Amino acid sequence: MQTDFLVIGSGIAGLTYALKVANAYPDKTITVITKTQSDETNTKYAQGGIAAVMDFDKDSFNKHIEDTLIAGDGLCNREVVEIVVKEGVERIQEIIEWGAQFDKDRDGEFSLGREGGHSEFRILHHKDVTGKEMERALLETINRLPNIRILSHCFVLDIITQHHVGFLVTKSTPDIECYGVYVLNLNSQKIEKISSNLTLLATGGNGQVYRTTTNPAIATGDGVAMVYRAKGRIENMEFIQFHPTALYEPGVRGHSFLITEAVRGDGGILRNQDGEAFMERYDERKDLAPRDIVARAIDNEMKVNGTEHVYLDCRHFSKEKFIEHFPNIYEKCLSIGIDIQQQMIPVAPAAHYSCGGIKTDEWGRTSIKNLYAAGECASTGLHGANRLASNSLLEAMVFAHRAYQHSVIAINESKQSTSSFSKYLKVGSAEIPNWKSEGTNVPKEMILITQSVKELKLLMSDYVGIVRNNERLFRAMKRIDLLYEETEALYEKTSVSPQLCELRNMITVAYLIVKCADFRQESRGLHFNTDYPSRSEMTQNIVL
Ligand code: FAD
Ligand code: SIN
Repeated sequence: MQTDFLVIGSGIAGLTYALKVANAYPDKTITVITKTQSDETNTKYAQGGIAAVMDFDKDSFNKHIEDTLIAGDGLCNREVVEIVVKEGVERIQEIIEWGAQFDKDRDGEFSLGREGGHSEFRILHHKDVTGKEMERALLETINRLPNIRILSHCFVLDIITQHHVGFLVTKSTPDIECYGVYVLNLNSQKIEKISSNLTLLATGGNGQVYRTTTNPAIATGDGVAMVYRAKGRIENMEFIQFHPTALYEPGVRGHSFLITEAVRGDGGILRNQDGEAFMERYDERKDLAPRDIVARAIDNEMKVNGTEHVYLDCRHFSKEKFIEHFPNIYEKCLSIGIDIQQQMIPVAPAAHYSCGGIKTDEWGRTSIKNLYAAGECASTGLHGANRLASNSLLEAMVFAHRAYQHSVIAINESKQSTSSFSKYLKVGSAEIPNWKSEGTNVPKEMILITQSVKELKLLMSDYVGIVRNNERLFRAMKRIDLLYEETEALYEKTSVSPQLCELRNMITVAYLIVKCADFRQESRGLHFNTDYPSRSEMTQNIVL
């Protein structure tokens, strides 16, 4: 199969890019690949909203920039922060034109929420299901465009580079190029190759590497692992953001329900088992301190008191107002027997967002030619050591747009050039070999995969969670090494399946998180190592 533009991922980043190139090039084909249903993405679960300066009387670009830089704890790229904050407003206008609706107050002005680390009310939202509304608007617009096809239930295995046509590719190979991807089509159970001129990776996050996460099952870090295997550059993987308030439900681990930070923005108070509003002891911004501080404070309270959760107190809210802003949360709590006016909500931190990822420049270009990355899988320089709440939907749209802008330049340049894209082969030529599956068999025992997944999640949560130290990181790496060896041996002799490939990808991601954590010999932002409890002068990013 051949396509002009290939997009891996149907969340906010992938769909925004697809829509833009489809509109700009009605005569070209755009193929979007997604590993389950087209709307099953982290995007669909986004609750709180999208941050942007909308009220220029009270707020300003400078304030949003400063808040982002403060949360990022010295590691943000200021130029990128300015780009995202300033260009974000236009991107929001665009998605409104595509049909997304954000809540308004009685005067017809946007009803703006507030979240941790924001000095002003600037969060646009659609009740407590903002991501679902944005995903809906994007998919509906895309479905009207005849030149985009969405291939759902197709699992991308690897990106195709010179390596696949017999050239030695190492980290120091200049001009590694992407020619497309190998895909396991779960509808036909066949492995296909799809070649493309330009490819965008928008594969989302990696929360599934941890035992408790707000991320759905698709978030296994596949894009990061694929780029690392292809010898591309990966950055700042140690900065995993734990959301302070995932709903604590005994026995529910894999995908925890989120209680949006907007609840604290509207006045929700964190309390420990004795009913104490403990955040006062940790930070003057109390419940609205940046996420790293709140998550660490909760972790500490839980450890000191020997409990598995703390509480979020909303008993003082007007029921009507709570239901108006948070209908989804209200219903969810009620469904497990919690009436938010009578009882406090049990909450605990859960892995939520990956601040690092595939290193990109200000146009979304990765270190591999013809390959862009945007959204959560990318490391653009916006978040530094800690992402400011509700900045990621914004970043995804801004960088999808920038990757589109650069794609236009790349297409124009290729028209002028007489040579093919690649000096090794023409894109889409039969020279790209078929996937090699000789000598592999259907797995006899799935337990060899499922048990390793469990072990990986457990060790990452216990050794590489909110608080780390050298001994824990050392132990984690030894265990990851063993899981790696066992899984590679299995991979060599087994026909590929999403379960096996996700395990392999999660092991790679876990390795990258531990490796970066090991290199960062200080505590900064989301990375807290008790052996180096303070910030050092080390203000560089870690690139692998
Ligand atoms: P995603 O939306 O996760 O999409 C990833 C896509 O890649 C999926 O289609 C998936 O199928 C596909 N994919 C992955 N691997 C493969 C593969 N191997 N083959 C084929 N397809 C593949 N951010 C905010 O700014 N505001 C919020 O209020 C907010 N709330 C959040 C609440 C929750 C519960 C969660 C989990 C996140 C929240 N975030 C929020 C973060 C934000 O939602 C995500 O960072 C963002 O939606 C990521 O978008 P994306 O397009 O990069 O990836
Ligand atoms: C939330 O609604 O609390 C999540 C916001 C975010 O992750 O940016």
